Amino acid sequence: MSLTKLNVSLQNIMNNETIEYCTENPLKTEELGFLVASEINKPSVIALFGNLGSGKTAFTRGFVKALNPEAEVHSPTFTIVNDYSGNGYNIYHFDMYRIADFDDLYSTGYFDYLNDNKYLIIEWSENIAEYLPDNCIKIYISRCDNENVRLFKVYGYNQ
Ligand SMILES: Nc1ncnc2c1ncn2[C@@H]1O[C@H](COP(=O)(O)OP(=O)(O)OP(=O)(O)O)[C@@H](O)[C@H]1O
Ligand SMILES: [Mg+2]
Repeated sequence: MSLTKLNVSLQNIMNNETIEYCTENPLKTEELGFLVASEINKPSVIALFGNLGSGKTAFTRGFVKALNPEAEVHSPTFTIVNDYSGNGYNIYHFDMYRIADFDDLYSTGYFDYLNDNKYLIIEWSENIAEYLPDNCIKIYISRCDNENVRLFKVYGYNQ
């Protein structure tokens, strides 16, 4: 499937559908992130699921580029949350790798970020699955047989 074709089917994200797509290198993953962000036309929570090195940060880099090309995406492993707001958008990148329980999560301010007009893109959503909002977009990333191929399953709103 070409990315052009993908671009068309991504419209389904807004219609609660599921999209599956493989990327064969990190740049293709960034491109997918860019296209997903271009298709989502309202501030949303994007929950990323997937193991170490699956491509969550690569996807985020492309996603953020579509909204604020000036922002430089870095892994927020130690800071927990990075702020890429600008160009008229509020964009926050969380890494929940170290979040073990409700108190940890509460101390990040996560619940305040959920309140208004913000894009939240969340790595290690596995660790906060029960605290994700109902109407988020969930993206599951897994490795395939070829070491550079990643499978993305994108679940549109309310799934
Ligand atoms: N198709 C692909 N998409 C994304 N990354 C790929 C792909 N193929 C190989 N890679 C490599 O996999 C790694 C992905 O790194 P990235 O930081 O995006 O992962 P991550 O899921 O954010 O990891 P972490 O859990 O440590 O935050 C990079 O080293 C990248 O070069
Ligand atoms: Mg990462």
